[in-house]
Amino acid sequence: MDGKITKITNKRRTDGKWRPQYHFTAPAAWLNDPNGLIYFKEWYHLFYQYNPYGCEWGAMHWGHAVSKDMLHWKDMPVALTPDQSYDNHSEGGCFSGSAVEKEGVLYLFYSATVKESGKVKQTQCMAISMDGIHFMKYEKNPVIENPPEGVFEDFRDPKVFWANDKWYMVIGGSVVGTNGGGDGRIFLYESENLYEWRYKSAVLESRGQMGTMFECPDMFAMNDKWILTCSPMNHPRFNKALYCVGTMDFQKGTYQIEKVGNLDYGFDYYAPQSFLDKNGNRVLIAWQNGWPWMPWCKNWGPTGVENWRGSLSLPRQLTLKNDSQILLYPVKEVVSLMKQESVDKDVQIGEKKYYINVTDSKCYYVKLKLNIKKLESMFIEIGFLGNGEQAFVLNLDFIGKIMTFDKQNADLYGRGKVNCSISSDTEEMEFDIFVDHSCVEVYVNHGMRCMTVNVYPEEKQKECWIRTPYKTAIIDRIESGSMHSIW
Ligand code: FRU
Repeated sequence: MDGKITKITNKRRTDGKWRPQYHFTAPAAWLNDPNGLIYFKEWYHLFYQYNPYGCEWGAMHWGHAVSKDMLHWKDMPVALTPDQSYDNHSEGGCFSGSAVEKEGVLYLFYSATVKESGKVKQTQCMAISMDGIHFMKYEKNPVIENPPEGVFEDFRDPKVFWANDKWYMVIGGSVVGTNGGGDGRIFLYESENLYEWRYKSAVLESRGQMGTMFECPDMFAMNDKWILTCSPMNHPRFNKALYCVGTMDFQKGTYQIEKVGNLDYGFDYYAPQSFLDKNGNRVLIAWQNGWPWMPWCKNWGPTGVENWRGSLSLPRQLTLKNDSQILLYPVKEVVSLMKQESVDKDVQIGEKKYYINVTDSKCYYVKLKLNIKKLESMFIEIGFLGNGEQAFVLNLDFIGKIMTFDKQNADLYGRGKVNCSISSDTEEMEFDIFVDHSCVEVYVNHGMRCMTVNVYPEEKQKECWIRTPYKTAIIDRIESGSMHSIW
């Protein structure tokens, strides 16, 4: 429990300087992974890992909200409470999982977590709802009691889906590796009825290459491929939202990888989960934060003083290009939140800052369109939430083809730089940047690259600017505007 919390209310306090206004946050207290995302009986349902007792992780509940457009959410009563012998533990509870609909009934699957004789025990459990509001845990829980051979403790985050006339479930896990440490696995189970599950195979094995444990796996079809995603722990190159594109043989339970990539290169994008929107588009939502085992993560930021901790990314639609490159871009509904305020064309920038003025200096978007040929210097710096030389800076280096988010000189809470490549097939490039108090999301070329970072600016950090470190550059188009609150 966070000692500073005196009262948990169900009403969002909106006057805090870091509370996002168009990214989902819990009414109060702790939130992590999105769970059970589904369109059910004409409502989008969002469940999330929730500790209603404080701004620290612990005693996981499933918080719940519903929406008509994936943006404006209505809080619902907590869906799952750790209240059974198999899930009632202060360092456990109802861990992450998923939802499916069968014949008008909503089924939730989650990992019940307890500690027995100092050892973590994770079993896969089910809860059922007719109306999407009241949930009954299945009286014969767990539906999967024991993990496959070789698993020491970690066996969690069931994602259930329908394929090939059967129900399937992927579960993240870790087996004892050859060096005695953990080695990540994604296990596949199958079922005819959602109640009885058979182990099929391991569809992804790290073998010392991809991390010690695969959290929050997901698997879905896209065009004629199968996409497998997960959040690896201790990935050698810190890929925290890994995707594989490949082919799946459900008969044999084998997955053939054709390409591996990263869904988001920022510090703060973890445990994405996908679902189908009402038009059949594949949409992903992730938790915008991280765990202390990540070298850059310090206490999940300072927002506990505002009585909340943890936000979710904008819903992003996933498309798969012919070369197996995944694009993730905010769903088209997000346009309804954008209030355009200015469009400047053929803007010449130089060493002096070119200021972008928006009505709400903490809650806005900027869209840039440029042609690399028109950049004399080949370097552009975009400052956000700045005050003089103090700012979060996005550095675009078109020689090295690298984009860097620099928070070395920006807030009191986390230093560091994070980067990714931005090579492009064309000379035209587009950058969409969303700023929301403490969340920044950057999209390059409609989602070819995504970068999500949390920032914690002080009240007076209000400037947004562009400059080049030397010479000049012409930017074809600079559009900016405010973002409407979703509350
Ligand atoms: C991922 C995760 C999951 C687990 C949940 C617990 O962020 O560690 O593996 O189910 O969070 O809250």
